[in-house]
Amino acid sequence: MCGIVGVLGNHEAAPILVEALKRLEYRGYDSAGIATVNDGTLDRRRAVGKLVNLSDLLVHEPLAGKSGIGHTRWATHGAPTVNNAHPHKAGPVAVVHNGIIENFRELRAELAEHGVKFITETDTETVALMAQHYLSQGHDPVEAAKRTIARLDGAFALAFLFDGHDDLMIAARKGSPLALGYGEGEMFVGSDAIALSPLTDKISYLEEGDVTVITRTSVEVTDANGALANRAIRTIQIDSTRIDKAGHKHFMAKEIAEQPGVIGDALQQYITAEGEINLPEKGIDFSKIDRITMVACGTAFYACLTAKYWFEQIARLPVEVDVASEFRYREPPIPERTLALFVSQSGETADTLAALRYCEGKAQTITSVINVPESSIARESDLALPIFAGVEVGVASTKAFTCQLTVLFLLVLKAAKDHGALDDAAIADHISHLRGLPAVLNTALEQNDALRDAARKLASARDVLFLGRGHMYPLALEGALKLKEISYIHAEAYASGELKHGPIALVDENVPVVVLAPRDPLFDKTVSNMQEVMARKGKVILVSDNKGLSEANEGVWSSIEMPSISDALTPILYAIPAQLLAYHTAVAKGTDVDQPRNLAKSVTVE
Ligand code: F6R
Repeated sequence: MCGIVGVLGNHEAAPILVEALKRLEYRGYDSAGIATVNDGTLDRRRAVGKLVNLSDLLVHEPLAGKSGIGHTRWATHGAPTVNNAHPHKAGPVAVVHNGIIENFRELRAELAEHGVKFITETDTETVALMAQHYLSQGHDPVEAAKRTIARLDGAFALAFLFDGHDDLMIAARKGSPLALGYGEGEMFVGSDAIALSPLTDKISYLEEGDVTVITRTSVEVTDANGALANRAIRTIQIDSTRIDKAGHKHFMAKEIAEQPGVIGDALQQYITAEGEINLPEKGIDFSKIDRITMVACGTAFYACLTAKYWFEQIARLPVEVDVASEFRYREPPIPERTLALFVSQSGETADTLAALRYCEGKAQTITSVINVPESSIARESDLALPIFAGVEVGVASTKAFTCQLTVLFLLVLKAAKDHGALDDAAIADHISHLRGLPAVLNTALEQNDALRDAARKLASARDVLFLGRGHMYPLALEGALKLKEISYIHAEAYASGELKHGPIALVDENVPVVVLAPRDPLFDKTVSNMQEVMARKGKVILVSDNKGLSEANEGVWSSIEMPSISDALTPILYAIPAQLLAYHTAVAKGTDVDQPRNLAKSVTVE
């Protein structure tokens, strides 16, 4: 994981690096560090914990120089200590790294034979030491870095800086994304374009295996075969307003509240004034597709799981869904006429990207549903459908989830139309409900206080169960994930009908059970399962609509009333109480809501 940044600039590098790292903190926040070259002298500063600790350190121990590299870390090898923090420095070379060097033990052993000593537990130190080793053999910095990079297996984005060289940076990419930014007599590198957006809007992306030698006025890229390569420079537009909570206490609260608006934006992009579904020109012709393979991680995976119910029930298309980290190792056959559909907020998730690459050349079309149009997954897809959620800063995904669901639901309607599974009137009916969704979500948000009260009760629980049936089952999974990731309370979700096949043994008077049960055709069955919980003294928080609560409210611990909506759209609506329950529980417990421990917003390692 981790975020890296580099600058060969005309101004002091340290504040620029720290500002860029702030925009990369979503990639990890275990420790951070920078190195600069000042009048030929390479030096560094590193601090454990959030970036603010590095900023504090730099006040007391400033670092001058107009050339520099920086890093924000999500620990893979070695604990988050100052010693393990990047940049790693070996004599005259400093390195920042995002990814994992898989053969670092082998390289360590080789270096140890030359008497090289290791002082950290990281894989990255090996890269710095290897480059130092080649320098000591008489190679110049460019050759030393290139020889080092050629020895590395695994995934990496790397930037090197050298003592005595104020105008030289070497960067490389294999498996982890890296962008180059072009300024006026200045050059930048960054893990993503967002990090560089206040510095320049001229960006090029390195491709797999690229190595680039950068000065303030020149960029030389060689590709995986060592041939000179040209990487197109694009002008990009990136919203720079990501660091604004708009009066909310947390980004997560702001992002939950934004959902009616951003879903409205997405609907406007994908539905014409006449109520037609409006996909980008090359679209998808579902009449040529017999099945769908959907792949994603975490919350995005639960969006896929929800969409499976929709595709199968509404469009009558069989769907296979897998978590990306399992998918390619299963080596699944991909029959002809399969649509491979990848869902990712960041568009950088390493496992999802690897799954996409597995499908390349095997599936009909590679389609992705992403939030970041400049991301690797978007760029490597035949068709990338943006969800228009805007920048999501909170590590726990909220508005991206509901926007993913919205876009996936539109794809379901398109599939139903192409397959003749729904007639025009039925599609128009769904579209009209969709258009009403933002208003219904606003009504759901009015339950904030009731959800906060219920959450205060949840905050003292050690374990919480979530139940749902049909397309509310993925929502139960999402509710449990949200709760555990930000409140650190152990939470599990089950399909309501599965409870009696084992998990009901967990239920006693100490276990709250959140039941997500709109008054739909499966309601009575879910309520029967809820009664089984209450018969065993389980404390039920029932989330349902007015009709559902009037039928089943008796004896529950808490109830939350949702507005009514068409059955198909309840998963999008019930995301709101699931998110707010988790949010208020975390606030009651005093955890770090926006940057929960051990997590990162973008998971760029396997
Ligand atoms: C949970 C969460 C994660 C992500 C997962 C995939 O709240 O945010 O589970 O959903 O890491 O990330 P993306 O969507 O960026 O591929």
